[in-house]
Amino acid sequence: MTAEGLPRPGRVLITRDELDARIAELGREIARDYGGRRPVLVGVLQGAFLFMADLIRHAPVDLVTDFIGVSSYGPDTQASGEVRLTSDLSTTIEGRDVLIVEDIVDTGLTLAHLRRRLEARRPRSVRACVLCDKPERRRVEVAVDYLGFAIPNVFVVGYGFDFGGLYRNHPHVCVLEGGDGRPHA
Ligand code: IMP
Ligand code: MG
Repeated sequence: MTAEGLPRPGRVLITRDELDARIAELGREIARDYGGRRPVLVGVLQGAFLFMADLIRHAPVDLVTDFIGVSSYGPDTQASGEVRLTSDLSTTIEGRDVLIVEDIVDTGLTLAHLRRRLEARRPRSVRACVLCDKPERRRVEVAVDYLGFAIPNVFVVGYGFDFGGLYRNHPHVCVLEGGDGRPHA
C-alpha cells in the first residue's frame, strides 16, 4: 500500500460534541446505578482508553479502574475470530461489581469472550458499557448494558478507534476512507 493510498479518517460519523454529550449521560447513569457499590471499571485496551477517561470524569461515584488487553484483529480490519489476552487485570475482582468498558461491539466475539473470562473469577456482577455497536455484524449474542451509539456497518477510526494502530488521536469518530474517498471495505 502506498502512502497516498493509505486509508484515512473520512466522513465524520460522531462529532466530539456528540461524544461529550452522550458520554456525560452514560456517566450519570452509571453513577446512579452503582452508587455505594464501588465498581471496578475494566477498560479494554487499547481502543477504550479515551472513552474510559472521559466516562469516569462524568461518573460522580466512588469507583476503581483497571485495564485488560485483548487482541482480536491483525493489522487489517478483518476479524480473525480469535481473541487473545495480551495483558491481564492488576487486581482481583472476586465479589466485586465489574463494568467492562469497551470501544465497540462488532461480531460480539471479544465482549462475549471477556464476559466469560471475567465471570469465571466470581465477581458479584459483570456488565458492559460500550461506546459503539454495529448490530448488523453480530455473530454471537452478547449483552450490552450501557450503549453510547448504534452505528451502521462501516469501519470507524478516531477517538480511540484505530486502523493498524493509527488515528486513535483523531478527535471525532470517522468513517475510514480509501484514497478514492470511498469507505474502506
Ligand atoms: P468483535 O470481537 O468483532 O466484536 O470486535 C471488537 C473489537 O474489534 C473492538 O474491540 C475493536 O477493537 C475492533 N473493531 C471492530 N470494529 C471496529 C471499527 O470499526 N474500527 C476500529 N476497531 C474496530
Ligand atoms: Mg477493542
